Amino acid sequence: MDLFEYQAKELFVKHGVPSSEGRVTDTAEDARAIAAEIGKPVMVKAQVKAGGRGKAGGVKYAATPDDAFTHAQNILGLDIKGHITKKILVAEAKDIAEEYYISFLLDRSNRTYLAMCSVEGGMEIEEVAATKPERLAKIAVDAVKGVDLAFARSIAEQGHLPAEVLDAAAVTIQKLWEVFVKEDATLVEVNPLVRTPQDEILALDGKVTLDENAEFRHADHEAFADKDATDPLELKAKENDLNYVKLDGEVGIIGNGAGLVMSTLDVVAYAGENHGGVKPANFLDIGGGASAEVMAAGLDVILGDSQVKSVFVNVFGGITACDAVANGIVKALEILGAEANKPLVVRLDGNKVDEGRQILVDAAHPLITLAQTMDEGADKAAELAAAK
Ligand SMILES: Nc1ncnc2c1ncn2[C@@H]1O[C@H](COP(=O)(O)OP(=O)(O)OP(=O)(O)O)[C@@H](O)[C@H]1O
Ligand SMILES: [Mg+2]
Repeated sequence: MDLFEYQAKELFVKHGVPSSEGRVTDTAEDARAIAAEIGKPVMVKAQVKAGGRGKAGGVKYAATPDDAFTHAQNILGLDIKGHITKKILVAEAKDIAEEYYISFLLDRSNRTYLAMCSVEGGMEIEEVAATKPERLAKIAVDAVKGVDLAFARSIAEQGHLPAEVLDAAAVTIQKLWEVFVKEDATLVEVNPLVRTPQDEILALDGKVTLDENAEFRHADHEAFADKDATDPLELKAKENDLNYVKLDGEVGIIGNGAGLVMSTLDVVAYAGENHGGVKPANFLDIGGGASAEVMAAGLDVILGDSQVKSVFVNVFGGITACDAVANGIVKALEILGAEANKPLVVRLDGNKVDEGRQILVDAAHPLITLAQTMDEGADKAAELAAAK
């Protein structure tokens, strides 16, 4: 999960990384109030998950609270590389003597962590990396040894930071490593890491990516999720621990096992060619335990998609046998009641297939059509979707 700058800075504060005081808001009036509270010149900064905000006019210096108001008005709603600015960070403007670059990241190709550091930080870092790669130090970090103060100092030195600030830089860099490890990040990047005229070293920008596989260790990270940007159906699926991805078609898909669901998408897309070009509406893998509750939750999510015209349930019974799945479908339709209002094509195969099919035949639910094969089911589901 990528964080906004203001969220990255919350983590910086938590781990004692020196930065600049500030607060996030979504109104220009509030921006003025925050600037007045800070009582010093401020920077008004667009909070979007895209690089190059400064160059796009999304980072402005405001000498007075009224300036902050004006800049905030201009920046809110600004389109930065397709991201509309909905929030701004109002932070104290620091005096800058020099701008450096520092980052920690996961280096997958070398199966290690990597520190990158350069004396030539700021908005042209991409340029530095491309034209003067020797100015950007790349230093492998041993996962077990990590980064102590001495190693942090060496990183700064290899990045050609000036001797006078190596000690101060080491402290800030070591704390950024703490953020990287303790928060289970895969990226912590600070550009610019600035030197003030008083030789303090501050993190004035922050990009952090958190490892979602480590979410279970960090209950507090949930608050960072950008609910505005997440599809509401995907959110609902996530709450029910379902593997769901919304797509753009009309045939809802439920299957067990990612491989089966992927091939179901292919088969439905192919069958759709014969029925006016209807397409799969989603990927949904209900996994191994296809209980009534899981099936109901899955159907609920899919039926909540107004684009869906029919649903294809394609299940291969394994440890969870077809009879359990069939019972799950019947109970799910009971649970959903009137909310289940779209035709369902069901194809079962594998363990206890005969028992499973019999359960569905006996239930004789008006919405359910049984299919013998995957191709037949895909064709029927596409036909029903096209007919609606
Ligand atoms: N708190 C601050 N005080 C003084 N100057 C700042 C402050 N924050 C940012 N700046 C200046 O604005 C420039 C751009 O800000 P920042 O690095 O946050 O955005 P950006 O680099 O344009 O965006 P991105 O990192 O997303 O590409 C910085 O290089 C720095 O010169
Ligand atoms: Mg930056």
